[in-house]
Amino acid sequence: MIENNKKNSINVFRKVYEEIKLRQAYILEGRDRMAQKERLIEISENALTDIDSMVARNCRVLIKNYMYSQDYSALDLITLLSSVVNNDFDNTLREYELGEDFDTNYGTRTSLIYQQAELPEFVAEERMTECFRYVPTPVQVFTQILTKLRKHESVLEDFVFIDMGSGMGRNLLLASTCPFKKIKGVEVSSFLCEIAKENVKIFKSNEQRCSSIEIHCVDAVQFEFPGENMILYFWEPFEDKVFMEVFERLSQMDSAHELKVYLVFLGRCFPVQESVFGFRLIERFEVFGDLHVECTLLKGTKEGDSGGSVDEY
Ligand SMILES: C[S@@+](CC[C@H](N)C(=O)[O-])C[C@H]1O[C@@H](n2cnc3c(N)ncnc32)[C@H](O)[C@@H]1O
Repeated sequence: MIENNKKNSINVFRKVYEEIKLRQAYILEGRDRMAQKERLIEISENALTDIDSMVARNCRVLIKNYMYSQDYSALDLITLLSSVVNNDFDNTLREYELGEDFDTNYGTRTSLIYQQAELPEFVAEERMTECFRYVPTPVQVFTQILTKLRKHESVLEDFVFIDMGSGMGRNLLLASTCPFKKIKGVEVSSFLCEIAKENVKIFKSNEQRCSSIEIHCVDAVQFEFPGENMILYFWEPFEDKVFMEVFERLSQMDSAHELKVYLVFLGRCFPVQESVFGFRLIERFEVFGDLHVECTLLKGTKEGDSGGSVDEY
């Protein structure tokens, strides 16, 4: 059983923010913009002394990116950190997680929030700004989405379910209670993938209907889509730039036969209707609870390729 540390939220950003907030007057008394930035960096170092060295490195790189590449002022950065640490939406999600028994019931570890820079692994600067945090879809929300999918598609055995940005893999486990042909998780973080693999080993349920669960530790833009009917699930994993590359790849897929693809967007829906699959909206609904988040289901089909043309004379 994985140690259930859901009350132990990962709080490096909070630690940095609190240290900076405590010394805000000192920082803003710096003689000019540059001096203030230097003071902010000096103070943030105090907060990063006794934490994992890779996490400290990531946070240092991120702060310098904002300070120098994006030229935020010290006050802009304090405001940004405050918005991350005091994000009402994430706080609501934390509340959901505290009331959630999934990990207690199954001995898994799925219930934490990690910003990319807080992951104990090398995180490239671009990834820190283009890829979003790990936060799991609340169990009841994902269960509701599965119920909706079953309403639209009765033969789940024909579909591969793919969670794009699968994190610690809770959706993969929940999806395995449906008779999908296969379940795949695509996740850029090797740390999260390792936890997801452990979770897959640990999870035992009489309701499990699919035992083919794969974790692909890869950036979504490099993922090879299988030439099979698919349900792709997105819970705000990344910026539009990444979405565009992912959909470009999807549209370039070859297939010998007709393919059906469902797209499920929890939260922000990327506008994909123009793509080669001719995606069309099939349902939009508000998810359970007080999250005030919409889920959008789209469906598209791709004609099978003719299998190569033979010139006739
Ligand atoms: C909001 S979480 C959603 C987790 C999971 N899908 C769920 O709903 O419970 C977004 C996840 O996407 C991952 N992610 C972000 N950018 C990615 C990328 N380019 N390729 C693969 N995974 C990515 C993050 O590391 C994070 O685990």
